[in-house]
Amino acid sequence: KSRTPLVAGNWKMNGRQDLLAEMAQVLAGYDGAAEVVICPPYPYLAAARSVLPATIGVGGQNLSDQDDGAFTGEVSAPMLAEVGCGYVIIGHSERRALYEETDALIAAKFSRAQAAGLVPILCVGETLEEREAGDTEAVVCGQLQAVVDAVGIAAFDRAVVAYEPVWAIGTGRTASPEQAQEVHASLRKSLAQNDKDIAESLCLLYGGSVKADNAALLFAQSDIDGGLIGGASLTADSFIAICQAAE
Ligand code: G3H
Repeated sequence: KSRTPLVAGNWKMNGRQDLLAEMAQVLAGYDGAAEVVICPPYPYLAAARSVLPATIGVGGQNLSDQDDGAFTGEVSAPMLAEVGCGYVIIGHSERRALYEETDALIAAKFSRAQAAGLVPILCVGETLEEREAGDTEAVVCGQLQAVVDAVGIAAFDRAVVAYEPVWAIGTGRTASPEQAQEVHASLRKSLAQNDKDIAESLCLLYGGSVKADNAALLFAQSDIDGGLIGGASLTADSFIAICQAAE
């Protein structure tokens, strides 16, 4: 694969200063080929940027679709950029399901992120019900195409896409490498209908119960370029082992 592997740790609403200190220490010794990104909760972003090695990226887990204004509790793309973020997760299934984020809102956030110089990590994924109904490809390619249609395919030149089957998130039930590869290939094929070169160079992550012991097989698949890691990113040892599996 010619694409640079990427491993991003999404702490979700977990982790405190002590985890950050532990990660900073362990990642200081990381000199592998994969690009590594840590996405802690908002209050820890600035500290993450100052204690993590410069080679490790920092990312937000969400952002507002507005840049400034009377939006109590929201955080904007320029703010994330100013405190040192290089990435931001957009459209995670928890945000789609729990906060009713629509494709239109997700596309608006994607544009705001890029305008501030952040690389969006756009998440797509099907529920168990959708998979069992045979709708996986239609659902995930539809979620991706909705954003492509709104922002234009050229924007995907500076973006990452993460496939996260909802049934595999935090359940310990990971997609098999073959199941994940099949969906990744569909996503890349559907992007290629918009632009072949962008589809070929796009970094496509898998997320959903990736652990130190299943990461290498997943990452070895031809269309899987790394992972978006939840639970296993909360322990320095397992996170670093996953980063090493991505090389
Ligand atoms: O963003 C990360 C994913 O939701 C995966 O979470 O590794 O705990 O299953 P998990």
